[in-house]
Amino acid sequence: DYAKYKDPKQPVSVRVKDLLSRMTLAEKIGQMTQIERENATADALAKYFIGSVLSGGGSVPAPQASAEAWASMVNEMQKGALSTRLGIPIIYGIDAVHGHNNVYKATIFPHNVGLGATRDPMLVKRIGEATALEVRATGIPYVFAPCVAVCRDPRWGRCYESYSEDPAVVQSMTSLISGLQGDAPANFVGRPYVGGSKKVAACAKHYVGDGGTFMGINENNTIIDTHGLMTIHMPPYYNAIIRGVSTVMVSYSSWNGVKMHANHFLVTDFLKNKLKFRGFVISDWEGIDRITTPPHANYSYSIEAGVGAGIDMIHRIHRRSHCPSSEQGHPMSRIDDAVYRILRVKFTMGLFENPYADASLAGELGKQEHRELAREAVRKSLVLLKNGKSSYSPLLPLPKKAGKILVAGSHADNLGFQCGGWTITWQGQGGNDVTAGTTILSAIKATVDPSTTVVYSESPESTVLGDKYDYAIVVVGEPPYAETFGDNLNLTIPAPGPSVIQSVCKSVKCVVVLISGRPLVVEPYIGAMDAFVAAWLPGSEGQGVADVLFGDYGFSGKLSRTWFKSADQLPMNVGDKHYDPLFPFGFGLTTKGKM
Ligand code: GLC
Repeated sequence: DYAKYKDPKQPVSVRVKDLLSRMTLAEKIGQMTQIERENATADALAKYFIGSVLSGGGSVPAPQASAEAWASMVNEMQKGALSTRLGIPIIYGIDAVHGHNNVYKATIFPHNVGLGATRDPMLVKRIGEATALEVRATGIPYVFAPCVAVCRDPRWGRCYESYSEDPAVVQSMTSLISGLQGDAPANFVGRPYVGGSKKVAACAKHYVGDGGTFMGINENNTIIDTHGLMTIHMPPYYNAIIRGVSTVMVSYSSWNGVKMHANHFLVTDFLKNKLKFRGFVISDWEGIDRITTPPHANYSYSIEAGVGAGIDMIHRIHRRSHCPSSEQGHPMSRIDDAVYRILRVKFTMGLFENPYADASLAGELGKQEHRELAREAVRKSLVLLKNGKSSYSPLLPLPKKAGKILVAGSHADNLGFQCGGWTITWQGQGGNDVTAGTTILSAIKATVDPSTTVVYSESPESTVLGDKYDYAIVVVGEPPYAETFGDNLNLTIPAPGPSVIQSVCKSVKCVVVLISGRPLVVEPYIGAMDAFVAAWLPGSEGQGVADVLFGDYGFSGKLSRTWFKSADQLPMNVGDKHYDPLFPFGFGLTTKGKM
């Protein structure tokens, strides 16, 4: 018989209803299931009617796999899915959270904390456009981005994934969604929108209050009244829905002791019924399992609670025998709502018409044009916090023509460090061969006058320091980390950063460039510094740092987070009654650029 759902001329709602009416319970359950790449053989996908596959952080077809290798992996899986009775395509998702960061030689953009400092939503939208092209170059149509957390305590290991402590700044940066998905037409408000096969479905995460946990402890409890939740953590979801975000990922955290993954009021009553979100809600990695303490303690209860709360797609570390089926008390209406939403996204984004990779896009990965965009983002993300020991003797911009200059510090010549977590691997890693890019040291060498001698020493000894230099650039900071591994209660600059700052700045006029996912304790050293720049986690295009240090472009960044004096003050955010920062939210000195 003529299958309406296969006809792209039919309205999406007609196609969804037709397909839904044909599906068995097993096919519906399969559609609600997301499994990890390593378990996703074509046979498993066909056998269990799986609806989605993901790459967890660092889960790649092979080390340094090419765009073509990624695309053929995804295509193989898709063949398995399309071989089923109804031929429903899978949607493959990945954490492209600062560029297509799992993929070797992709452009790595600054992490969100730096993008917040640019105060430039149009720049962030362009980053979304470039990221969509690089993701599609690998045959993938769905990203778990943007994280719209409003990080209220920098002790949180994921604070760098948050654009700002100020919800208004985070709201403005939801422009990333429109870059990734395309601009939703006016009559699309609230419905998921993806504008064709060069765009990708986005995911606003982690719903809701992930950035407000007690002491910034990852996945912990966000203790705040309804007014506070709705005015601080919820606002970015208003903007995300208006922009047509296709999916929302639920947070591991709890709100006043209730797990978000089991929170029917916030997921169904508020997000779906009050805000009229019409895309699909997806669990976090093992998010359902972590409803219980300890996790996995009672999977059927967890499924009952999670699907019952309104979660539509469930990430499962591997296909489990349990299914969220009617036996576990789910009315078919709940299952149909979930499958309806998933199918609505798949039909809207054209996945039935274009289920396979577009091989012509392979060249988009790491394209020079995207690297130039990333370099611009680095320039605009830098925040100048001190310039000269007195305002009439500014150190920056540095002269390109000098006799001899010293570059020091653990982060000057380390591409992996300047990219941070979620880069090639989940946690990120040090080294210059992690991917393609420009270190800050290389950028400095490429920018100074050929007659200027550049001496580099990671931890300069007295022999090096005994020499005469016109000035020194000290680049120190945090090693890469992700999620709970980044939780940190003291927020000091890791050794040997402080001693390198002190030994170099004692002997030479120095600018310190801090590479970090958040403000750190710098008050004890700020007096020794002639100049101080917060560079956050700039990513692969280190040239952007030199562009501004040497005056080709001016400093324009403004703090998107309060710079505290000590961790004892935390949490401390702009607008608090007791506000005693070293540098306040919104602070940033400027210099004039030539360009
Ligand atoms: C991770 C993160 C989430 C990510 C997901 C899939 O644990 O919480 O941000 O999208 O799992 O990698």
